Amino acid sequence: MAHPAPAPISNNSLSFNDIRSPNQQLLPLTAQANAEGCLEIGGCDVFELVQRFGSPLYIVDEEALRVACRQYRSTFEQYYPGEFQVLYASKAWSCLAICAIAASEGCGVDVMSAGELYTALQAGVNPNQIYFHGNNKSPAELQAAVAVGCTIVADNWLELHRLVELATEGLQPRVMLRVTPGIECHTHEYIRTGHLDSKFGFDPNQLDEVFSFACQQPSLQWVGLHAHIGSQIFELQPHQDLTAIMVEWLAKATTLGLPMGELNVGGGLGMRYTESDNPPRIDTWVKAVISGIVTACQRQQVPLPKLLCEPGRSLIGPAAVTAYTLGSRKVVPQLRTYLAVDGGMSDNPRPITYQSAYCAVVANRMTAPATEIVTIAGKHCESGDILLKDVPLPQTEPGDILVVMGTGAYNHSMASNYNRLPRPAAVLVSKAEASLILERETNQDLIRQDRLPSRLTAVEPVRT
Ligand code: LLP
Repeated sequence: MAHPAPAPISNNSLSFNDIRSPNQQLLPLTAQANAEGCLEIGGCDVFELVQRFGSPLYIVDEEALRVACRQYRSTFEQYYPGEFQVLYASKAWSCLAICAIAASEGCGVDVMSAGELYTALQAGVNPNQIYFHGNNKSPAELQAAVAVGCTIVADNWLELHRLVELATEGLQPRVMLRVTPGIECHTHEYIRTGHLDSKFGFDPNQLDEVFSFACQQPSLQWVGLHAHIGSQIFELQPHQDLTAIMVEWLAKATTLGLPMGELNVGGGLGMRYTESDNPPRIDTWVKAVISGIVTACQRQQVPLPKLLCEPGRSLIGPAAVTAYTLGSRKVVPQLRTYLAVDGGMSDNPRPITYQSAYCAVVANRMTAPATEIVTIAGKHCESGDILLKDVPLPQTEPGDILVVMGTGAYNHSMASNYNRLPRPAAVLVSKAEASLILERETNQDLIRQDRLPSRLTAVEPVRT
């Protein structure tokens, strides 16, 4: 396989013409093959990282994450004449280090559970830069969100009524309204959210009623409108259509005496998982959104809103890889060669859930030519536990390190302990330094929540 040429990054400058957009890369920005033909990321030898931190291992390229955050922010800075805020959609990977990096780049954080909120707060994210989503926030989650003062993106009537109850004289919750825009986009049906038959948000037909309710509820701060149309989207048109619709809603709210100053167009920009994927650059996407908003505001004669977006995948997805150790080989003559790795659907559930395709390289054989087509199997007791199907690889041996690219988004965050596999560690690499950001789970961690009723302890465990 012609291994994807990493883009050289010589400095942190934001001259994007020199730097390919991180979401268009297969390997993270700083990846390169060293003189020995081994893969390095952030100046760290991947083979050595696995020796030091164990396998499987998530490896996060700090530079790639920072460059992606900066591409979003500086495009807004350069092209949007109004206020803006980029939020990191932490559902893509919620952990302290990643939230802290996003915040240090000036991004706020979007959360959708008390757990994600807690993580963002512990990472030091300012509550006034946290937006709380979800179609069924519990009373406790709403209360926690209101108490810390973050913005709540209300999804339904039940939440609106509960928010009114939570408001007190000294505490006026900041509320956005999530609306389903009725926009179709071409992505997997499980990750489409903007079509009318979606569990998320208010139906646009309910807007008049919601706006008139809002007008009668001064106990809440009605700050704006939100919509999210889906994920892993390569087209620009759906987001441009979205901006036009949202500005129409904004104009309507203003007419009804409910001036709302913020519009959040959600996330959704796709990333490159395989050679054939061709997502737009981050700056191209931001410019398309901006031009949609500016044009629509001129047409509707409403002032430019504070513009928010909340990318997840395009920020963290391309910044990380998963390194596995290759193990057994099964050759089915004339049919297929299976190579098994020491992880699988528990650390990356995307192939079995969405039939997602990935690319891989062998970290310690970067210059070896691809000579065979193999299928990479996970180690779980599940026939569908296949990470990559029919991919070209060089001749390998057990113990070689297979690196699956583009695993930063929705891998660790959707990981499980199926078959009681401990979840892998994660390291952050930058400038030839590796820092552990997630400890590898241990067998003790796996039984941490188990309780053995005393009547069962009478049975002597079999000593092994
Ligand atoms: N905002 C909201 C309200 C969302 O629901 C999502 C993603 C995002 C922002 C971020 O979207 P992104 O920029 O990452 O596309 N587990 C699936 C993806 C589910 C996306 C859920 N919502 C996957 O692995 O493909």
